[in-house]
Amino acid sequence: MMRTVYVNGNYVPENEASVSIFDRAFLFADGVYEVTSVLDGKLIDFHGHIARLERSLKELGINYPVDKDALLEIHRELIRKNDLVEGMIYLQVSRGAAADRDFMFPSADVKPTIVLFTQSKSLVKSPAAERGLKVASFPDQRWRRCDIKTVQLLYSSLVKNEAAKKGADDAWLVLDGKVTEGSSNNAYIVDENNTIITRELSNDILHGITRKAILQCAAELDLKVEERAFSIAEAQKAKEAFITSASSFVYPVIEIDGAKIGDGVPGPIAKRLREIYIEANRAAAI
Ligand code: PDD
Repeated sequence: MMRTVYVNGNYVPENEASVSIFDRAFLFADGVYEVTSVLDGKLIDFHGHIARLERSLKELGINYPVDKDALLEIHRELIRKNDLVEGMIYLQVSRGAAADRDFMFPSADVKPTIVLFTQSKSLVKSPAAERGLKVASFPDQRWRRCDIKTVQLLYSSLVKNEAAKKGADDAWLVLDGKVTEGSSNNAYIVDENNTIITRELSNDILHGITRKAILQCAAELDLKVEERAFSIAEAQKAKEAFITSASSFVYPVIEIDGAKIGDGVPGPIAKRLREIYIEANRAAAI
């Protein structure tokens, strides 16, 4: 289906959408993005994503005044125009297109470029959720401001492809002997006492919107949470492992670097967290 996308104030067919070759996202990866999931044609945790967008823009000094109501209306209009029932909305804001390629930022009159488009995907019924993921580990060679959601995703893309070559579904990144996060998701393990362990918030990981919601779900299930780093060896001995993101919700992890996690099938805690996350967020969607 030909999608209708949004570019700088206009709704256009995807094959007519264009941005300048001098756009700084294209030349310097000088842009930030958000991915918001859609269930039943409604947005999941929209305000969380917009708050993180504002933070990313502020950290990079991109002068895009976020108008939450206007952005909500654009998201909703794209859902309507594309009859999107389930999937994601991708939003990207770059520092804009200067007159030429220049490492120095353009003058203040250069307007940021804003692009949004829909992606249809079955999020609730998911083979990956039922089967569980195999992950392979790689050194975390990203820049050290992973808390900013920039479009600079080359390393994440490289390791995901390397993981596929090894027969794995995704990559977990390791910094100084400890897992930071997945290529495009946050990483968790569950120990023998059913404690959920996930790396603490810092510049080394993206502060996942789904992560925050899942830790709340864990509290509702009276599960203990430890926010600390863990190694691949500790993960391989864990009872369960899983990942979270807006485009996966919760996916169990069943194998890490060839070692089976638990019985090598999706664990009950990951399954339960996925169920209650979907239930609660479906009800709260706007
Ligand atoms: N990725 N860590 C990284 C590196 C990510 O790219 C993402 C999201 C997450 C999870 O964040 P959230 O729960 O807010 O989606 C963690 C998105 C989905 C993507 O790049 O497609």
